[in-house]
Parts: sequence; C-alpha cells; structure tokens
Amino acid sequence: MQVITIAARKGGSGKTTLATHLSVLAAGEGRPVLLLDTDPQRSLAWWWRLREAETPHLVECEGRDLGKIIEAARREGVHACIIDTPPHAENSILAAMRVSDLIVIPTRPGPFDLAACASTIEMAAATAKPALTVINHAPPRIGAAEPSIVAEAREALASMGATVAASVISQRVALSHAIIGGSTVSEYEPAGRAAAEIAALWTEIQTSIGKA
Ligand SMILES: Nc1ncnc2c1ncn2[C@@H]1O[C@H](COP(=O)(O)OP(=O)(O)OP(=O)(O)O)[C@@H](O)[C@H]1O
Ligand SMILES: [Mg+2]
Repeated sequence: MQVITIAARKGGSGKTTLATHLSVLAAGEGRPVLLLDTDPQRSLAWWWRLREAETPHLVECEGRDLGKIIEAARREGVHACIIDTPPHAENSILAAMRVSDLIVIPTRPGPFDLAACASTIEMAAATAKPALTVINHAPPRIGAAEPSIVAEAREALASMGATVAASVISQRVALSHAIIGGSTVSEYEPAGRAAAEIAALWTEIQTSIGKA
C-alpha cells in the first residue's frame, strides 16, 4: 500500500487540489483508494460530498488517528492512501509525514511562496521520508521553454535541498471547474492540458515511490 501525504505550511498552495485530482487517477481500474482529510477546514470532504462517483473513499480524521487508520486500510487491501493536511497545525502535519512513503510539497512559484516553502522542506527532511516538491499555479508554458518564473523557482527550491518534480502544474481554470462539479480534470476534461499535467505528475510520483 502506498501512503502519500500532501503538505505545505503555506495556505493556498494547492494541497487539496492535488489530493483530489491525484486520488482519482490512483483509483483508476477499480483500485481501492482512501483519501484522508486531516484539515479541520474539510475542503477535501466538501469536494467528496459533491461527487457522484463512489470512489475514492474518504475519511475525515485528526493527525493523531492516522496510524490506526492506515493500519486498518492496509489490512483491508487498500491500494493507496492520500492524506491532505492543514497549513498550520505542525503536529498534525508531522504525524502525516511520518506515516508516508512519499511527501508531496506543492508551492506556487512566487518569492514569498518559495521562502515559506523552506520550512516544509526542512520538516519533511527531518522525518527522513522521501519528498517531492511540485511547482503549482505556474503560468502555462508557451513554446518549448519553461516560463522564467518556473525555472527560477526550480533553482531556488533545489538550493534549499528539495527534489523538484519535473512535472509542473499550470494555473488552469479546468482544475477549479472540475472541483466545483465534484469531479477532477481526468473526468471533466480528460483530453485537456490540465489532465495531461496531473497524469504526468502521477507517473512521476509512482516512479519516486518505486525508487524509494
Ligand atoms: N493549478 C491551479 N490552477 C488553478 N487554480 C488552482 C490551482 N491550484 C489551486 N488552485 C486554486 O487555488 C485555491 C487554493 O488551492 P487549494 O485549496 O488546493 O490549496 P491548499 O493548499 O489546500 O489551501 P489550504 O492551505 O487553505 O488548505 C483553490 O481555490 C484552488 O481551486
Ligand atoms: Mg487545503
């Protein structure tokens, strides 16, 4: 069973957005997937209640309950648990990081976002769990070259010791439109660019877990 935590101590970086879109890919071909919403804001649960599809499954819980829930999921034959975390509750974020096979850290590419991301990267490093930092909310690429703000963010994150995903998630309205309808981009606009970016990130996450 894979346990993936999405964590970033900066609000609005895209934790819940990535948790939703990635979870539906994880649950492809009938694989049992469990979403764990540990954020008292319950945004993930809000999206989940809008869904018509019965998968993935979702449990609302506290960080301190994760150990028991993950063990139960393992016994039940769950394929992947994806944990969404709150931005500020350090103990809860740490609890999630500690039960993970991979920590995914989304960040916007702006200077304040990158500065704030350092503390999440350090926290993940302190748990000694593999971590993958993902640039989200990037300006869409025009042509072959990466937008300069993305290239600069990549450099800044690498200098903090982060492993930065080659996949970048651009700012695209499809990601929000899908959420409003209780779906994800792979369901709402499967041939779209947002769906392609999320799929590339999911493949990269699988490779990272495989290597770890
Ligand atoms: N790549 C993107 N393109 C367009 N909108 C996005 C993208 N990523 C996130 N958003 C939007 O930005 C807002 C913040 O995203 P989200 O709620 O996923 O962040 P978060 O890290 O979970 O925030 P919090 O720390 O408050 O839980 C949401 O309205 C979401 O729809
Ligand atoms: Mg959130």
